[in-house]
Formats: sequence, structure tokens, C-alpha cells
Amino acid sequence: MSELPRGFSDNLPASARWVLRGDLLDFTADPGFAPPAESTGLRWRPDHVLLIDGERIAAVQPASDPLPPGWAQATQIDHHGRLILPGFIDTHVHCPQLDVIASFGTELLDWLNTYTFPAELRYADPSVARAGAQRFLKALWSHGTTSAVVFPTVHKISAEALFEAASSHRMRLITGKVLMDRNAPDGLRDDVAQAERDCIELIDRWHGRDRQAFAVTVRFAPTSSPAQLTMAGRLCQTYAGTYMQTHVAENRDEVRWVAELFPDARSYLDVYDREGLIGPRAVLAHGIWLDANDRAVLRDRGAQIAHSPSSNLFLGSGLFDWVQAEREGVHVSLASDVGGGTSLSMQHNMLDAYKIQALQGVRLSAWKALYTATLGAASHLGLAHEIGRLEPGCMADVAVWNWGHGLVGTHRDQMARDLHDRTFAWITLADERNLVASYVAGQRVYQHPDVEN
Ligand code: GUN
Ligand code: ZN
Repeated sequence: MSELPRGFSDNLPASARWVLRGDLLDFTADPGFAPPAESTGLRWRPDHVLLIDGERIAAVQPASDPLPPGWAQATQIDHHGRLILPGFIDTHVHCPQLDVIASFGTELLDWLNTYTFPAELRYADPSVARAGAQRFLKALWSHGTTSAVVFPTVHKISAEALFEAASSHRMRLITGKVLMDRNAPDGLRDDVAQAERDCIELIDRWHGRDRQAFAVTVRFAPTSSPAQLTMAGRLCQTYAGTYMQTHVAENRDEVRWVAELFPDARSYLDVYDREGLIGPRAVLAHGIWLDANDRAVLRDRGAQIAHSPSSNLFLGSGLFDWVQAEREGVHVSLASDVGGGTSLSMQHNMLDAYKIQALQGVRLSAWKALYTATLGAASHLGLAHEIGRLEPGCMADVAVWNWGHGLVGTHRDQMARDLHDRTFAWITLADERNLVASYVAGQRVYQHPDVEN
């Protein structure tokens, strides 16, 4: 923890009650791909206060209204003129891959062998795993992300370290030991029986405790034997309420390899579906190269695709057709997929998503992008009662942002013609440097070191 001295929770005073004043923006429904002017579902509450009591949002009211009785002693922070959003939800990101983010020159399968697997080997060491988990959560918070669905490594300790770090801050985190028993180097393979025991121990210890949830984590079809996939399906069926996370149909060479490894399967997705892995709590990264049949399966099961735009561009994987997926009834959330992805910033990933849609003749509005990274993800994860909204009763997972940063960002903000123009320019130009503070479960876990308040 000491390597990041400024900005983090260690230095920040705690408070049981906060009153945060600012411009509140969240959503009550999916704005879809409607033009911004015709969008519904946006909730814009300029100059309001968010009243936080303990872990939860207690009330939201205009800043001009008197505070309710008993709130005069709360810590009041005047973010007047700043943007207050629900904390972002990153539905697919790899903790150990902060070590290899921004590595040059490869597509998926080479990238895994050249950079990723060697980096993940280090997480066998508990001290590396613990330090990595703490660094990773701090990195998320310093980008305004307060909930995540996370891949650790094959090592049980790497999942434990994430659960320990997240639970000590009551952060909503979904993870599980990675399953991989073939086509991976020595030191990164498990075996079916031990992996099953490890998963059951992790479920017993962590699932449902302190906002932690277990995900059966199949890395991807090539690194699991048929026997391991069957075991993973058994875990999903036995422990209802657990999530399932994996990768699917990201890269064309990968899809060809899966067809060779599983000649009996109808498709890549079918490798998972026939083992009972695809349900409403399944989060599948990428899904670029699926067919209509696969999309119908995802729709019928209520599973979601974690669209990972910066990763898809960086690794040259392909252009995800978001409109087609949603037209055919598939849930879509937004993810950084660091370290294939190039930034934990959800704004950067929204911008890359915008570009991917633009190349296909579609315009992704600021409303659809922000909805997807907040209430949309929360809904698809079955957590809309808890996260993704600025609503009394929800957990106080909140991020405070400056609209403008630097000469260009500040100038462009002043030129904004309307709220969508302003918000879209913000998404396009903003990143973690715009973040003022992040709150997790009602506690300030990050404060920009150079911004007062
Ligand atoms: N497919 C299997 N493993 C990975 C991974 O770590 N990152 C990405 N982007 N795709 C994968
Ligand atoms: Zn990934």
C-alpha cells in the first residue's frame, strides 16, 4: 500500500454521514440507440445533494432545500459545478495484467503466450498476489470504478487476495480462481479435482459475504479439458447464485482452434452451453464472432456479453456489432479487459466503443454509454437494487468528477451547447485526471491529491 502514498484511503478521514453537493447524473432506464434528443431514461439533477448515511444513500434533494433534522453534523463537501455519477462497473478486467498492459505487437494467442502467462506465473507467490490485489483495487478506484467482475490467476491465493482486499472495503467484487488445466505453461495449470476443491472452499468462505460473489471462472475453452468444463458446469448448477465468467469468440484464430479442440460442439459458445455454464449470471467477454444461433442462446439464458472495446482494437480482434446483439435480445455491458485493454478508464472504453460503432455506421450516445457502465451493468448482474443508481437505499458507491481538465477539456466544456454535447465531450476528453473522489460503501477510498475537498 505504501507505494501509492497520495490520494488513497489510508490518508483520508472517515465519516459516518456525508452530504455531497454537485450535479447528479444517473439513469432510470436504458436509453438504447435512440438519438440523444429522443432518449429516455436519463435522470439529470443539477445542483442537488446526495445524503449518505453509513454505507447507503439516504436521500437526494435539491441543494437549496434545508437538510433534514440531524444532518447538520454530517461532513458536507461542496462539489458545486462538478459531476456526481454512480461508480462505474467494469464487467471484465484482469487483476494481474496491470503488469503487461500496453505490450507491443501481438494478437490474442501470441499475446497470451508472450506477455500474459509469464506475468500470471508470478501470482503463485502470496505476497505478489496480495500486493497485486491491493494495487489493482486502488487503480480501479482512481479511475472512478467501484465494482468489477475480475479475473485473477489460476492460483487460489490470487482470488483470496482479491476477496480479502475488496471485502475489507466492502467493495462489490465478483471473482473466482481461474480454471485452466491444459494448453498453458507449467505453473499455470490446475487439475480437475484440486480446482473443484479450491472453488468450493472459496465459495464457502466468500460467496455472499461482505459484498463478495464467487464466479466460476473458466479462462476460455482452449485451456480447459472437457472434464474440467463438466466440473465447472456442476459448480454452476450446485451453487446457484454464483456467477460464471469466461471469454468467447474474441479472435478468429481462437475460434478456429476451439473448433479443432471441440469438433462435436456446434459452436464455440456451445462448448460452454452444453455443460450448463450459460445462465443469467454468465458474463462472457467479447462475443465478436458469434452467430445468430449463439445470440439466441445468450438471449434465452439471459447471459451478457462484456463488450471490451479498447481490447478489441488493441489486439486487433474485430468490431463488435452491439446493435445486432441487442436487437437479437442479448444483454451487453462494457468492460476494460485490461491488460488486453489499454485503460481502466471507462471513459476511454466508452470512446473506443463509440469508434467501433462509428465504423459500422452507428452512433453511440453519451447516454447509452454511461447507462451501460452503470445501471445497465448492474441490471444484467442482478444488482440494480444495490449499485448503478443514485437512489435512496442503494449502496453509496459514487464518483465525483470535474467536467473539464486541462486547457482543451476546460475550454471545450465551456463551449458546450447542451447537456448531451457537454457529456459526450466529457466522455471523449476525460479520464482519471478528471476524477475528484471515489466512495465505496459510503467511505472515501480515493481523493485526487491535487484537488481540495
Ligand atoms: N482469452 C483467454 N484469456 C484471455 C485474456 O487474458 N485476455 C483476453 N483479452 N482474452 C483472453
Ligand atoms: Zn479478458
